[in-house]
Amino acid sequence: MNTMEAIRSRRSVRTFDGNPLQPEQVRAVLEYAESVRNPYEIPIAWRILDAKKHGLSSPVITGTDTYIAGKMHRVPHVEEAFGYSFEKIVLFAESQGLGTTWIAGTMKRDAFENAMELTGDEVMPCVSPLGTPAARMSLREVMMRKGIRADTRMDFGELFFDGSFTAPLTPEKAGRLADAFEAVRLAPSAVNKQPWRIVLCGDTAHFYEKRSKGYVAADGWDLQKVDLGIALCHFELAARDSGSALSFEIRDPALPLPDATSYLASWTLT
Ligand SMILES: Cc1cc2nc3c(=O)[nH]c(=O)nc-3n(C[C@H](O)[C@H](O)[C@H](O)COP(=O)(O)O)c2cc1C
Repeated sequence: MNTMEAIRSRRSVRTFDGNPLQPEQVRAVLEYAESVRNPYEIPIAWRILDAKKHGLSSPVITGTDTYIAGKMHRVPHVEEAFGYSFEKIVLFAESQGLGTTWIAGTMKRDAFENAMELTGDEVMPCVSPLGTPAARMSLREVMMRKGIRADTRMDFGELFFDGSFTAPLTPEKAGRLADAFEAVRLAPSAVNKQPWRIVLCGDTAHFYEKRSKGYVAADGWDLQKVDLGIALCHFELAARDSGSALSFEIRDPALPLPDATSYLASWTLT
């Protein structure tokens, strides 16, 4: 798979063509999903779900009955680990010509969780439909994209910094990591909030979460950390695509921080 191509061409697909997927297409996605590892080494169990069989629905999705979902134990870093792994699956699906949409909210959650047979402390952060994109988006999808300005992204220098949060980074200064930063900039996020910030210090990219109001649940669940997992995934895939090797570490460099911003993890060129 050419990662940068998949990252550039992917968009959320909410209108599918109504044709069921071939069993081998579904099998390929599930086999790929089961092969994915995340830097936190948190195991995730994946299932393909049938909307008719399990009574599943999402008010924003039309034209497919196939979904993929994952469940895992609720341990530290579970949100980032899920974001990282699920985005790899989304990009694989994209490379196979299949459409996806990350869905955390707009679904009949109880029905999906029952279908996943959650037990004890297990969580199912998000699901995605799988199918062939329809030739045209439904009016509802067009309006929804407009409402959340889904086709726009923040500028490079608003998201990425050079040595400290006071100095914006440019693609030129990012050097051989320029594509990796661009891949993060283009990533999908809940309500397109783009909560990722990165400070490049030498060969190390430190990832931070810039929290928007209202995304941390009363029990501490932080949906925007899922977005950060997506950012970690895009950065690594694009860097490796352009020939760089990276190592993962959680070691806070204790930089002065803007409001509502916290350190998450780092990738270092090796
Ligand atoms: C963690 C996460 C949760 C999301 N939840 C939903 C959702 O519940 N319903 C929905 O229609 N889209 C959802 N999205 C899709 C975003 O709205 C979408 O990625 C963003 O607007 C950017 O558009 P794009 O994916 O087409 O580039 C979610 C995305 C992410 C990453």
